[in-house]
Amino acid sequence: MKLTELKNNFHKELEGAQDNKALEFLRVKYLGRKGVVADLLNELKNMSAEERREAGNKINSFKKEIEEAFEIKRAEIEVLGEGGQAKDWFDVTVPGVKHPKGHFHPRTIVMRQAESIFQSMGFSVADGPELETDWYNFEALNIPKEHPARDMQDTFYVANPAGGSDLVMRTQTSPVQVRFMEKNNPPLRIIAPGKVFRREATDASHDYQFYQVEGLMVDRHISVANFKAIIAEFFKRFYGDKVDVRLRPSYFPFTEPSFEIDISCVICNQKGCSVCQQRGWTEAGGAGMVNQIVFENAGYSRNEWQGFAFGFGFERLVMMKYKIDDIRLLNSGDMRFLKQF
Ligand code: PHE
Repeated sequence: MKLTELKNNFHKELEGAQDNKALEFLRVKYLGRKGVVADLLNELKNMSAEERREAGNKINSFKKEIEEAFEIKRAEIEVLGEGGQAKDWFDVTVPGVKHPKGHFHPRTIVMRQAESIFQSMGFSVADGPELETDWYNFEALNIPKEHPARDMQDTFYVANPAGGSDLVMRTQTSPVQVRFMEKNNPPLRIIAPGKVFRREATDASHDYQFYQVEGLMVDRHISVANFKAIIAEFFKRFYGDKVDVRLRPSYFPFTEPSFEIDISCVICNQKGCSVCQQRGWTEAGGAGMVNQIVFENAGYSRNEWQGFAFGFGFERLVMMKYKIDDIRLLNSGDMRFLKQF
């Protein structure tokens, strides 16, 4: 058979092949060990050297042509699907593919609620860096070096790449008070939610990384009464009318006087449960009237302004809201836990 005839046959047959099975059949027929090309090569040995060279070239280019045509056909079948017809219709009754949808972390959900309550009371949301200088995290807040109050907050220190003294992973959101006051004049009302870090062992109620919500209100005549009113209003809106707030005397270097904020246990309604350790109250955070030393460090003149500041441990509030009994679940990344929110 002449080569041109073989070529024509091949292309006709290839066109007729509509699926991978037919394609494979043709591949064996043409390129297989006993296939058409092999037969042609076999005939070379009966030829003279000159004929052989010419015929060999032709056979090789035929072989190449076949291989290329196969490649194209294979791709065609892949795109069009077996059967060779492009799908120009689709079944509108087939149920759609459901893409799993993400959602907010429980802490984010609750943080947004807290922010919007404070915003409705005229507070704006401020923030500051998580990697702080010793000045903002401690000194400016009236916690000098060697002051025993530094022991209240075990600190992660980080070498300063620019040289000089170490930086600290902020142990509290209070440095944002100073940073904000340096750039803004009273009257002011802010909250500063954010992540803080403490070098301590973890258990069901402690993690080495958690969130605080800092608050600061400064004006000419701010008193503890203003603070109590704002904080009581916040918790009523946050947890519902049943919740009660009380202040206990405490100590912080950057407030004077200082308080511990307790809220009535919203899990047991003060009957006593494991979350409040049978006390009926749980600690929500610290607070107090801003120490004039802090005002001075932020650039305000002494005794011109009065203000209150507070700092909640935020996870505690989230746990009470959703009745979560281990703080570590919040950072676990465990989907079985997270999917519930
Ligand atoms: N920064 C304090 C803490 O982390 C809380 C606090 C904030 C206390 C503001 C008083 C005023 O414990």
